[in-house]
Amino acid sequence: MRRIAIFASGNGSNAENIIRYFNEGDHGAVVALVVCNRPGAGVIGRSERLGVPVSVMSAAEIRDADRMMKVMDEYEIDIVVLAGFLLMIPAFLTERYHDRMVNIHPSLLPKFGGKGMYGRHVHEAVVAAGETETGITIHLVSDECDGGRIVFQARVGLTPDDTPESVERKIHELERVHFPCVIEETFC
Ligand code: GRF
Repeated sequence: MRRIAIFASGNGSNAENIIRYFNEGDHGAVVALVVCNRPGAGVIGRSERLGVPVSVMSAAEIRDADRMMKVMDEYEIDIVVLAGFLLMIPAFLTERYHDRMVNIHPSLLPKFGGKGMYGRHVHEAVVAAGETETGITIHLVSDECDGGRIVFQARVGLTPDDTPESVERKIHELERVHFPCVIEETFC
């Protein structure tokens, strides 16, 4: 049984969906830990309600290799899933979890990726550019922001009536449907 740690900073709808999929089903892995860098983030309550331990750690603690590795070892983590995690991942983690760490990005990379492109900013840029489609990208994590091999993309059409809010809803639906299965297909 593989043991997953989810890193998340915000609301946690993806984290909840992934926890339910693995911990309430038989898919070859279990979510053993959630790491969150923002006290008060929605993901904390969502995870704890589902019985998953949450480690709230500051950016400095996450960058501290001894401290971070101790947590990962304690929970025997072998897969890392970034689901709305807003800090850069330190090199010691990308090295240790080389090919065992994925991120989800709410656009069709390489479009609308890179510095400053997260959350609502991405959907605003997509609408401002008059795109006729957008989507999600799930990719392995490398040292480069939004770099790393792409393992999956899914698309959705847009109309001139779409707003950043409606694009966000479409993206969350794609994430809900695909993210857990792609984790399973990639690692389990
Ligand atoms: C998702 O849209 C994800 O693609 C992006 O951040 C958002 C996180 O949403 N990286 P949630 O916290 O899972 O609700």
